Amino acid sequence: MQAQATTWFPWKDAYSVQVPEIDEQHKRLVAIINRLQDAMLQGKGRAVIESVLSDLEDYTRTHFTFEEQLLARCGYPKFVAHEAQHRGFIAKLTQLRDEYRSGSITMSVQVMEFMRDWLTQHILLEDKAYSEHMTLAVTK
Ligand SMILES: [Fe+2]
Ligand SMILES: [Fe+2]
Repeated sequence: MQAQATTWFPWKDAYSVQVPEIDEQHKRLVAIINRLQDAMLQGKGRAVIESVLSDLEDYTRTHFTFEEQLLARCGYPKFVAHEAQHRGFIAKLTQLRDEYRSGSITMSVQVMEFMRDWLTQHILLEDKAYSEHMTLAVTK
């Protein structure tokens, strides 16, 4: 049997916010979510899944902090709402990790789809909105 070469959550050019540093960070988040999906499909043990979940939470925090500093610097008018979305996702990731750790949930297709869909929607709608604001601010 041939090895599966398809990526579950592929990066698309449409996700670009036209800020290379942010795109790199988003790609890294996508890569961690794919690692989690692979670990789940391969039936990896709890220790492996917990460590990927913790990588995801850590790197999500790093990325959100970076992005929030950038938005604060450019006086983004919807900063508070954007930050609230970030806080909401972090709270959800922490909750999922705690529930997984305590054995009350398993990594399921639904959990993976939630992460993939949240990130995709957030990039396409919210992150692209600030990147448009930044582009306008630069060209004004
Ligand atoms: Fe964001
Ligand atoms: Fe982002």
